[in-house]
Amino acid sequence: MQIRLNNQDNHLDSYMGIEGILDPTQRSWIEVDGNAIESNVKQLIAMLKKNCQLMAVVKADGYGHDAKFVSEYAIKGGASQLGVATLKEGIKLRSFGINIPILVLGNIYRNEELLICFKNDLMPTISSISECLICNNIGKKYGKKFNIHLKVDTGMSRLGFQSDQFVDDFAKIKSFENILIKGIYSHLSTADEDDALDANSNTQLQMNKFKILLKKINIEKDIQIHLANSAGMLLGSNFHFDMVRIGLSIYGYNPLKKIIDNLSLKPALYLKAKVAFVRTIRKGVGVSYGKKFVSNRETKLAILSIGYADGILRNLSGKINVIHNKKLYPQVGSITMDQMIVDITDSRDIVVGSTMLLLGSDGNKTISPVDWAEQSNTIPWEILCSFKNRLPRVQVN
Ligand SMILES: Cc1ncc(COP(=O)(O)O)c(C=O)c1O
Repeated sequence: MQIRLNNQDNHLDSYMGIEGILDPTQRSWIEVDGNAIESNVKQLIAMLKKNCQLMAVVKADGYGHDAKFVSEYAIKGGASQLGVATLKEGIKLRSFGINIPILVLGNIYRNEELLICFKNDLMPTISSISECLICNNIGKKYGKKFNIHLKVDTGMSRLGFQSDQFVDDFAKIKSFENILIKGIYSHLSTADEDDALDANSNTQLQMNKFKILLKKINIEKDIQIHLANSAGMLLGSNFHFDMVRIGLSIYGYNPLKKIIDNLSLKPALYLKAKVAFVRTIRKGVGVSYGKKFVSNRETKLAILSIGYADGILRNLSGKINVIHNKKLYPQVGSITMDQMIVDITDSRDIVVGSTMLLLGSDGNKTISPVDWAEQSNTIPWEILCSFKNRLPRVQVN
């Protein structure tokens, strides 16, 4: 049974959806390669230990790629469950007819919300006995067990039962007759750090704590145990348990600094913008707000139709390149709200209307959100989630 939200709550109305064909008037856009998602998922599943499932994490609109599109290709690649952050993200996927299990990774604690969760066949993450009680009452009222995942905090200090009380709490939860525990999980806080595999690392401590807890409780065979995000999964099969929850890597990026043998993930996202204007300035002329760049020669500039209102961090000003015809060109001066400026003095083929590549690959030139993250002192996850709706998502294949 699906439940309708009232208009005020319903963000389905504002769903733009991915476009099949690029509107020729579009000034800048994101292309999403569904085949890349599918093949990344297949490749990751091939690395998993036997009988381990892959949950595709498609929260935040599929890390900015379009959750519906990503889900479809992730399922094609073999993902057997989906992870979202919010109730509405889950409802949205259900409204598109996606019917595999969906886990809401964020916390839902109000009776009304848990009821909506139940009615849309979404599984909540449960972190307390009081939340369990609400779920149990809902299951009882509707004569159907409420499927849930229990989360235990092993060191992230975010959601989850407190680890030193979990064994007692678990005994109480087992007495609730109207809930069905589908999973028990925890979340790694430092799996992408260089020391993650060292015996005394925080990651190993979390893993050990999780394993000790699991040994102390009686886990029925249908309960899925899961711990790893992308980084955790890539650390090795002892992190795999029954399922892994993979976000970043299905989109084509390795969160670990080290290169993993035989792993060739393909970025699914291409960010592009058109040249709106070309001008030449003399030597010694300042460019853009604050005149942070001053030309040291006669300089040809391309003005690109993309800026921080599209989600390009202003902090990247003067630190990035863009690609055209397999060549790199430096972005110069401050990135402005709607435009950015690129030094194309060395180009012979860039004209008004040319398309420039900001993220993606062309020949042997690649620029990735991982590069942007390093240059702007953030993480690739934040780069991907920053892109605004003014950039339409267009499917490549
Ligand atoms: C609980 C949980 N599991 C899994 C993931 C996926 O993480 P990643 O994108 O690093 O694979 C996230 C993302 O933040 C998460 O919050």
